[in-house]
Amino acid sequence: MNNIDKTQTLGEIVAAHPYIVDVLNKYKIDFSFNGSTTLEAAIRDKDLNEYDVVGEIDLAVDEFKLMNSKVIYWENEPIDKILDFIEGHHHVFMIETLKKIDALMEKNTDDFPLELKVLFGQLKKDMVEHQKKEEENLFSLLREYSGNRRTDLRHKIVQYMIETEGEHDEAGRLFNEINNLTNDFTIPSETSENLRKVYELLDELEKDAFIHIHMENSILFKMI
Ligand SMILES: [Fe+2]
Ligand SMILES: [Fe+2]
Repeated sequence: MNNIDKTQTLGEIVAAHPYIVDVLNKYKIDFSFNGSTTLEAAIRDKDLNEYDVVGEIDLAVDEFKLMNSKVIYWENEPIDKILDFIEGHHHVFMIETLKKIDALMEKNTDDFPLELKVLFGQLKKDMVEHQKKEEENLFSLLREYSGNRRTDLRHKIVQYMIETEGEHDEAGRLFNEINNLTNDFTIPSETSENLRKVYELLDELEKDAFIHIHMENSILFKMI
């Protein structure tokens, strides 16, 4: 039981061991929006059994080593490649999934509680604006900076990063509210097909957002 240093931040641990996210998701340990929290503090805050959690993470690391699987360690990759992946995968996935959920909610409006529609509407508006801003401002500055590490560029980037992290916190709050409202996307026993599909899509959206925001807050922004 010595694969993990619990005094490291969750962002650092997931960057070094990306395959352990299922264990963290199982215990609802937020490695994404709160990636600067240490593992031991997160365990304490959630009142979890440290022996169980650290043991399970350790086992996941051992299993991964045994399987000899391939994984990308993004912290060792160039900034351009990380930006291409975030835009080409996470941003596209976000927009496509938001559209699918929106279409289901619009067409079958009586199937969904008003509170869910309001929270989702806010999340959709925020995320569309947030990603557009990232691509047009922060990411284009980062691309320029990766080829020419000028101090004036760095200064501008840091300003945008602070703003972006604030928007991530707000998105995290909305995801959390949606998760609580839907009881962690637990599909009620008697429900419509539309609501079941929306819960599944929201679950996928949240899981992908966890990785997306982790890559931005705990990998990309730490490279500057
Ligand atoms: Fe993003
Ligand atoms: Fe972002």
